[in-house]
Amino acid sequence: MARAGIILAAGQGKRMKSARPKVMHAVAGLPMLGHVILAMRAAGVQRIVVVTSTGAEEARALATKMGAVSVVQDAQLGTGHAAACAAPALKDFSGSVVVSYGDMPLLTAATFEASFAAQERTGMALVAFRPQDPAAYGRVLLDGVGLLDSIVEFKDASPAQRTVGLCNAGILAADAQSFFRWAGKLENNNSQREYYLTDIPLLAKTEGVRCAVVEADETEMMGVNSRAELAAAEAAMQVRLRGRALEAGVGMLAPETVFLSYDTVIEPDAQIGPYVVFGPGVTVRAGADVRAFCHLEGAEVGTGAILGPYARLRPGTVLEQGVHVGNFVEVKNSRLEMGVKANHLTYLGDARVGAGANIGAGTITCNYDGFDKFATDIGAGAFIGSDTALVAPVKVGDGAFTGAGSVITKDVAKDALAVTRAEQREVPGWAAKFRARKKSEKSAKAKDK
Ligand code: UD1
Ligand code: CA
Repeated sequence: MARAGIILAAGQGKRMKSARPKVMHAVAGLPMLGHVILAMRAAGVQRIVVVTSTGAEEARALATKMGAVSVVQDAQLGTGHAAACAAPALKDFSGSVVVSYGDMPLLTAATFEASFAAQERTGMALVAFRPQDPAAYGRVLLDGVGLLDSIVEFKDASPAQRTVGLCNAGILAADAQSFFRWAGKLENNNSQREYYLTDIPLLAKTEGVRCAVVEADETEMMGVNSRAELAAAEAAMQVRLRGRALEAGVGMLAPETVFLSYDTVIEPDAQIGPYVVFGPGVTVRAGADVRAFCHLEGAEVGTGAILGPYARLRPGTVLEQGVHVGNFVEVKNSRLEMGVKANHLTYLGDARVGAGANIGAGTITCNYDGFDKFATDIGAGAFIGSDTALVAPVKVGDGAFTGAGSVITKDVAKDALAVTRAEQREVPGWAAKFRARKKSEKSAKAKDK
């Protein structure tokens, strides 16, 4: 059966106190909305419609970028009304549809999968959970055979109904065209004057369609309404990502100090030291050693490479096999070919460094003139002396040397030496004479007092 998804994301998110739409706040380097889209896709959902508020351009742009469609809900008239806004976008669709919220970044494909499976068996399915604190969640009431009887919103619930521990997570799966037909019939005669998504199972029941209840894990149902809840979701996501990495054979001395992105790829037998931060788009190959306090984004660390401690890799960086990048080295948009060493205090930007080259401490590629960026090309086996400034665009040939402290502004031929520093001059005995003079000045001053 074909699968579609509707993600409700038109809520204001006032408690975030942010100019940005709530669902655009990131968890593990990806906006929450992106996590829900990925989880749906992984559950075989081909068509996804994101329901946004008028001002949420940013959310619509992300939806488009991730291959989803977006619609606008002009006024927030409730979850049922929001879901109905997706009807025009799916009018030619026949199959199952699942409705979910955009502010639940921990949702997994398995939960969507389970709701579709139950819906295909029973006709409709609702995801419920038993939170430690049921707070103001809608309560899920079951009938004698464990199917859904009804959902009562906390505000509409009696004291007895409020004691029920089973709560509505907000995920509902149904046949798409029936769903939209029922959504069109919703009324808002409740305490909040809202069109409730939770009334859909009641309308279905009048046509003999019953709703199964799928129980899910509480952590996964975590919704984000405030900065504190966003931080809690991040923490839970990090626990999940670290667990997956360990499971996959990644070595981590102190996993609780390592921060991963949703898309971080670390191959088995790579070793990650304490306090390492992975931004989006990082791949670490097998056997690489990423030492303490490194920060990486948009970069690849090759097989057996050693990074850090205290190294920074920025987008577009590729370290090939066996490269060493050491402390206080920053690399941006550069390829360091096999076996290159840049072990201390260096900036390499917009550069290619040929295999086996050695980059001395304090080497800087001067790649930016305040307007444009320029490339530096360092040949294989070159030896860049300490404190060399390479003023790009510039090329250093294979096997060439640059003298320590040189400012290289012109291309250096293969196997040549380029030095640009002033020649050393020596004044014999100068230091001893200087000290003697200073000492006698000092004792003369002391006597005057
Ligand atoms: C809803 C459920 C409740 C459930 C809870 C779980 C209903 C009526 N109630 O309550 O049973 O326990 O979620 O978190 O469905 N949204 C829109 N447009 C709207 C209204 C909401 O897009 O007009 C979106 C919001 O952005 C949010 C989601 O729908 O992501 C849930 O809305 P919210 O008002 O928070 O629902 P609750 O009252 O918490
Ligand atoms: Ca509400």
